[in-house]
Amino acid sequence: MSANSTVPSPEGAAAAVDGSPLVIVADSAAEAGRAVADRIAGVIAERPDAVVGVATGSSPGPVYRALVEHRAAGLDVSRVTWVALDEYIGLPAGHPESYREVLRRDLVEPLGLDPDRVMVPSADGMRPEDAAARYERRIADLGGVDIQLLGIGSNGHIGFNEPGTPFDSRTRVAHLAERTREDNARFFPSADDVPLECITQGLATIMSARRLVLIASGSYKAAAVAAALGGPVTPECPASIVQRHPDVVVALDPAAAERLPERLAR
Ligand code: F6R
Repeated sequence: MSANSTVPSPEGAAAAVDGSPLVIVADSAAEAGRAVADRIAGVIAERPDAVVGVATGSSPGPVYRALVEHRAAGLDVSRVTWVALDEYIGLPAGHPESYREVLRRDLVEPLGLDPDRVMVPSADGMRPEDAAARYERRIADLGGVDIQLLGIGSNGHIGFNEPGTPFDSRTRVAHLAERTREDNARFFPSADDVPLECITQGLATIMSARRLVLIASGSYKAAAVAAALGGPVTPECPASIVQRHPDVVVALDPAAAERLPERLAR
């Protein structure tokens, strides 16, 4: 595992010497997951009632598996509140690809969590716009997110904040980009079955988290990772906003890191 050189800030924030995000290039996706889980576990150990933001999809799997190991080693996760990034609109309750169900399979059951401690945006008979505003308020009422786990889309999205999303966006109803629907077709019978809309935390909501951890693996993420970390900070690559966060760690496998500028992939 290698990481670009770091300086500890007074709060112990993770940033490289030049202010760019701390990038860990691990030997494998499993090792990248372990690095991220170690950081999340550290936050929980320090604050057992922490608010931990969680993501869905393929990338977080190694993180959740490594968190299970932390729990087996004695980490108490019973008082943590878990907050999801997003949820599709239009899937019936209990649909296996709804993010509530994905989190039940990938996080709640393996970690033995109380499902009531896991918040997922849900329209639940309300107007989706009202549900989104309520979700934003619930996050604020919790005192904000202590550490937010992120994946990255092949088009540079975080949450479902697709290219063009304003940086000041809050939790809201959003449309999925065609590229995202194609990417996520692997979870559905076809791309046409992927919902068109979702409720997602906005970019400003995500940036309000006290710490960010982003994980990516596979060469199909390499261009998005390079643009997000090494390119300009622009709404055209929503993930590039993480360059402005004071405490962000990015964990990659070698394939996801293959197009990173030299200065970041040390
Ligand atoms: C999921 C989410 C998305 C995913 C991204 C990568 O909650 O917010 O931003 O993190 O689409 O998905 P995977 O990991 O499946 O490649």
